Amino acid sequence: MAYDIAALGGDGIGPEVVREGLKVLAAVAETTGFTYNVTEFPFGTEHYLSTGVILPEGQIEAFRDFDAILLGAIGDPRVEVGLIERGIIGAIRWDLDLYINLRPIKLYHERLCPLKGKTPADVDMIFIRENTEDAYAGMHGFVHKGSPLEVSTQTMVYSRAGVERAIRYAFEVAMTRPRKQVTLIDKANAVRAQDLWTRTFAEVGEEYPDIKCDHAYVDAACMWMVKNPEWFDVAVTTNLFGDIITDLGAMVQGGMGIAASGNIHPGQVSMFESIHGSAPKYKDQNKANPIATIAAVQMMLVHIGEAEAGKLLDTALANLLSGDRVTSMNAGAHATDALGDMVVEEVRRLG
Ligand code: IPM
Ligand code: MN
Repeated sequence: MAYDIAALGGDGIGPEVVREGLKVLAAVAETTGFTYNVTEFPFGTEHYLSTGVILPEGQIEAFRDFDAILLGAIGDPRVEVGLIERGIIGAIRWDLDLYINLRPIKLYHERLCPLKGKTPADVDMIFIRENTEDAYAGMHGFVHKGSPLEVSTQTMVYSRAGVERAIRYAFEVAMTRPRKQVTLIDKANAVRAQDLWTRTFAEVGEEYPDIKCDHAYVDAACMWMVKNPEWFDVAVTTNLFGDIITDLGAMVQGGMGIAASGNIHPGQVSMFESIHGSAPKYKDQNKANPIATIAAVQMMLVHIGEAEAGKLLDTALANLLSGDRVTSMNAGAHATDALGDMVVEEVRRLG
C-alpha cells in the first residue's frame, strides 16, 4: 500500500524546510521499503495574495483522503495578523478535529542546551497540548471598536469531552514511558474555569494507578522547566499555555530549529509541522534549519504506522545531533540542504 502525503510548504522558510523533510522521507522509504505519493499544495500567503483564496472550498474534506499532512510554516507580514495562520493551520486543526498537539522535548547533546549543567538525561519530556479549544476556539469580538468605550473579549472555552480526551491521551503516552508520570499544567488558581481540568485529571488519574500524577501552575512550570527540567516526563496542558511553554521547551532542547509537533487525531489524517514560524528574513537563503521539519516527518512515520521507519529516522537524528558534526541549531550555522544531506547520509548508513 502506498501512503498519500499532502505537503504544504506555506510561507517564508516553509517550502525549503519541507523540501529537506521530503528528501529525508524519500531516503527512509527507500531504505526500509515502503511506498508513498506526495501531493504538493501551494497554499500560503503568496497564494492568497494572487488568488484571494486561503483554502479552497472543500479542501479540508479533500485532506481526509490523505494519510498525513506535512506543513512547513505560515506567517507573512504583508497580510492581517493571524489571517492565514487561522485560515490554514487553524482550519486544519479545528476542522479535522486534530485534538492533540504532541510536542516532544528531548535534548540530544549537552552543548545544545542553554541551561548550565543540564545533560540529555535531564531533558526528556513530552508535552501534550490540547489543540482545539481554549482561547483558540474563536469566540471573540469587539464592541465600540475604535472608540474610547471599546470592549474586546476572547473566551477560554473548555468542554468536558475536549479536556478529557487530551488528558486521557497523556496518560496513555505516559504508560509507554519508563517514568510513568503525568504533570497537569494549568492556572486553575486564577482561571477558575480550569477547575474542569483539575477535576477531570483527578478522575482519569484514578483509572491509571501505575501513573504518578503531578501538578504545576503554568508560571511555576516555566520556572521548573529552566531550573529542574528533569522533573518532567509527560505534561498535559491547555492550548494557549501549551503554545507558550513549548517555545520555552524548544529552547531547552536546543532551539526552534529542532522542535517538532504532531497535530493528531488518533486513527485519522493528522498534520505534522515544526513549531517554529516562517522566519521571512531567512527565506531562500539556505540558512533555515530543517531539523524540526525532519523531526516532524519522523512523527508522521510513526502516525501512519511505519514504526520501523520512524525508529530508523529517530536513531539517525539522535546519532547526528549527539555527534560532533552539527555544531549549532541556529539558523545559518549549517546550510539547509547540507543538514538534510547529513540526515540522509545517516539514514543510509544505518539502513
Ligand atoms: C504554533 C504556532 C501557532 C499557534 C500560530 C502560528 C497560530 O505558534 O503552532 O505553536 O499559536 O498555535
Ligand atoms: Mn507557537
